[in-house]
Amino acid sequence: MNRKARIIVVGNEKGGTGKSTVAMHLAVSLLQGGASVQTIDLDARQATLTRYLENRRRRADRGHALCMPEHAAVPPTDDPAADEKRFEEVLERARAEHDVVLIDTPGSNHPLSRLGHSHADILVTPLNDSFIDLDVLAKVDPDTQKISRPSHYSEMVWDTKKLRAMRGERAVVEWFVLRNRLSPLDARNKREMERLLGELAKRIGFCMVSGLCERVIYRELFLEGLTLLDLGEGSGIEMSLSHVAARQELRRLVENLGLTRLVADSEAITA
Ligand SMILES: Nc1ncnc2c1ncn2[C@@H]1O[C@H](COP(=O)(O)OP(=O)(O)O)[C@@H](O)[C@H]1O
Ligand SMILES: [Mg+2]
Repeated sequence: MNRKARIIVVGNEKGGTGKSTVAMHLAVSLLQGGASVQTIDLDARQATLTRYLENRRRRADRGHALCMPEHAAVPPTDDPAADEKRFEEVLERARAEHDVVLIDTPGSNHPLSRLGHSHADILVTPLNDSFIDLDVLAKVDPDTQKISRPSHYSEMVWDTKKLRAMRGERAVVEWFVLRNRLSPLDARNKREMERLLGELAKRIGFCMVSGLCERVIYRELFLEGLTLLDLGEGSGIEMSLSHVAARQELRRLVENLGLTRLVADSEAITA
């Protein structure tokens, strides 16, 4: 049986947009849905996903029932050719053995990150609802408040599609831009972001999805190695109404990214 995993890359050329938080939550959502998941951390500098999973492993070793992905960190060294080879080997094996490969990337334009992006079937780009974050996707003319041209990250995504086509692979990537840390306030800024992202989505071909609201809980979960999906009995963190709402947001996100289908497919394969 050749499972040929789907490859999800979480990327944005900017740090602090929620890539690792989203990667971790997607990984656990997929695992809980029954998919087998390999995570790969390409962010050597921060290694947030690796550390998040180490915290989770420590907790699991203390007797908490927690689902774990298979994980590999592939940090860049000063030998780019060897790094590429290592990454391709990890990816090849993961692809054959799992339903989903989830790759977390650094907030910088690194060759290894570009290579990771070039393998994406699904690219998820979390973005804070701010013009500063939008700037890596598109230049906005301050006078007209219109998009003047795509920016460096959008161009990088475009270039990696070419790389993929050159390898003779399907160049179609489902690209989702996820609005993260949405504030319940900021109505005007939200509307403006919505308008500009809508315009940009048509122009450069991504799908805009609502992500996660701004909630303190995301910052608290890291050290515990937990996600929203692990809260409740035995976790030491009681579920509040805000957590229930956050879980619903996450479920909606998984649906909007088309990942519910992915879980259903993996169930069909293993049945
Ligand atoms: N929806 C959210 N609400 C509140 N804090 C968030 C949210 N998403 C991410 N964060 C916090 O923002 C910071 C950056 O998130 P992280 O996932 O490390 O981003 P990146 O991987 O893009 O650098 C972390 O402190 C994280 O806990
Ligand atoms: Mg990160």
